[in-house]
Amino acid sequence: MLRTFLHTHPDVWDQVFQLDPRRAGFVARLLASTGPTLLDVGCATGVLCGELAARGFQSTGVDLTPAFIQAARRKYSQVPFHVGDMRRLRLRASFHVLTCLGTTFLYNVRNEDLTATLASFHRALRPGGVLLIDVVNAMAFIQARPFRSTSEHRFLLGNVQATATLEHTVLEETQCFTEQVTWRVEGRRPRRDPRSTFRMLFPQEARHFLEGAGFQDVKILGDFRLSARRLEGPRMLLLARKGVTQRTRE
Ligand SMILES: C[S@@+](CC[C@H](N)C(=O)[O-])C[C@H]1O[C@@H](n2cnc3c(N)ncnc32)[C@H](O)[C@@H]1O
Repeated sequence: MLRTFLHTHPDVWDQVFQLDPRRAGFVARLLASTGPTLLDVGCATGVLCGELAARGFQSTGVDLTPAFIQAARRKYSQVPFHVGDMRRLRLRASFHVLTCLGTTFLYNVRNEDLTATLASFHRALRPGGVLLIDVVNAMAFIQARPFRSTSEHRFLLGNVQATATLEHTVLEETQCFTEQVTWRVEGRRPRRDPRSTFRMLFPQEARHFLEGAGFQDVKILGDFRLSARRLEGPRMLLLARKGVTQRTRE
């Protein structure tokens, strides 16, 4: 169970993270070329599912956090949302496109979690279906762009000023980074979240895990423009396809 300020305040989440139109456009193009059904894993409060449903696609959302799923159901009553764990998805339907965006995939801290999640994604996709994962680009930690240990972000929540101070550390042995957020919201006592741990995933190990799970045509991109093939920026996108004829790996 995730107990950070944002995971327990879906209304604040919606003010901090708004729909990224480039991301929605990218996923819409994938759906148009692959087929109309989308499963968004780690859907949070359902913004991407809601947007793609409004564009005529059939979205389904899954998230581990019950408060997010309740908020998503309230906002988008026509979209099915389920509480679930990406490592063991249990859905009756299978999907043309499966998205796992915004660093959700890096909650798979251990190798066993990565393997279980990719097997679970493989089962949830139709033959020929496409997987899209968007994570922090671990290469950026070791390139010229330094890993900033502290950064501050300001938000206006309604008409109340809020500051989130993010502190990062690197755990060399487990190849993870941690993030701890302290929220300072006008008129309230500062609140320090529990520390979250994320896997640092490098491009060639991502490819290795994807191919090991039975995915084909693996592409590694720098952002939501298909032309961005260099990994200079802060994000890494993984695009892969489930084969049409191969047997599903259990
Ligand atoms: C950083 S948020 C990203 C949300 C959304 N995809 C986006 O890009 O804005 C990570 C989400 O993953 C969810 N999550 C964390 N671990 C999960 C798991 N094991 N299975 C499913 N969802 C998980 C969290 O509840 C949270 O909503």
